[in-house]
Amino acid sequence: MKYKFPKDFLWGVATSAYQTEGNGVNTDWWYQETHKKNTDKYPEEPSGIANDFWNRFEEDIDLVSELNCNSYRLSVEWARIEPREGFFDEEAIFHYKKILQYAKSKNLKIFLTLHHFTIPLWFREKGGFEKLSAIRYFARYSFKCVEEFKDYVDFFITINEIEVLSLMGYLRGSWSPMKKSKILAIWVHIVLLFCHKQAYLDIKKKFSVKIGLVKNIVWYEGKGDSLLDKINARLAFFVNNHLSLMPVAKNLDFIGLNYYFSNLIKNFIVCNPCDSESDLGWWISFDGLRNTLVSLRRYNLDIYITENGLADANDKKRKWFIKNMLISAYEAMDANEVNLKGYFHWTLTDNFEWHHGYWPQFGLVKIDRKNNLERIKRPSFDYYKLICKTGIVEDTI
Ligand code: BGC
Repeated sequence: MKYKFPKDFLWGVATSAYQTEGNGVNTDWWYQETHKKNTDKYPEEPSGIANDFWNRFEEDIDLVSELNCNSYRLSVEWARIEPREGFFDEEAIFHYKKILQYAKSKNLKIFLTLHHFTIPLWFREKGGFEKLSAIRYFARYSFKCVEEFKDYVDFFITINEIEVLSLMGYLRGSWSPMKKSKILAIWVHIVLLFCHKQAYLDIKKKFSVKIGLVKNIVWYEGKGDSLLDKINARLAFFVNNHLSLMPVAKNLDFIGLNYYFSNLIKNFIVCNPCDSESDLGWWISFDGLRNTLVSLRRYNLDIYITENGLADANDKKRKWFIKNMLISAYEAMDANEVNLKGYFHWTLTDNFEWHHGYWPQFGLVKIDRKNNLERIKRPSFDYYKLICKTGIVEDTI
């Protein structure tokens, strides 16, 4: 069977600044990496030069173009743009314009994320998102980005995955600033929502650009027939999903969905089968994507899958993963009338996978870290390339 996506569907890949650019020296993450104590488990290794995207962006954007993508999602580094409080670095802004211009010259629609997990050191020292002043700082930075980059950008994304940032940085404590406090995690989550809202309101007063938020959503389901497990799964999904989107629903022009995995719940704990997992042990479930998309219909907004991919160093499951995720997405549009407008695969090249360092490999393109960061296309690159060209997914590979 052939699944034909609409003509105007956006096909792309997504990347982020800190994970690829290299030398993010002025960020909280770099600080964490260089001040790691012997007792700290994370990060497993420093980011260093990453993929040197800062200098090799043309090579990578050429790959996006070779994939037949019509869109590209990338991010800018706040710490480069505003390295000191209130000082905006014209050179860094100029460099980002060169990157964006190059992408535009390849006819790519641009989704630009303004905050993808990392913050400038000065902002960290001021308390980061723990302080209410963050709302003012973030809105000012976002406004500046829109002012500078609006001619190149089609869709702005204020913040990537509010709940992941508060969970990993303030509850699990494995990401900068490595704290473990339930109260702080909830508080930071709230402050981040206000950051988005303020940025949205300020920008919209002056510019008519499209602004959205990217939400990571995990689908939850009860394992077996127990009513209690079913209720718990519904609750977990509600908390994970709608509690972050509902408060800002009026301040969104579109929703970005990052979907990676689902969880089965049994007696209040996650109890996933071991039938199919990524290298990170994430349970691969295609139905979860469709169910999540259907649940987002209530917002009546356009939806873009802004990230979906898997850690698969040997490229054994990636084609199968892409095929089935896309079929699930297609079904959500076709049978459930979800306003899905695009799909961005995570990610183009292997990159710095946060606290794990470089071992999880999500790229359609392998980075040979021992050989001058050579870009080596995996077989799944050609598979996705054909889909982007034809807009058709076949259920055989
Ligand atoms: C993040 C990416 C990350 C990916 C895989 C997403 O939640 O936005 O930065 O690399 O997950 O872990």
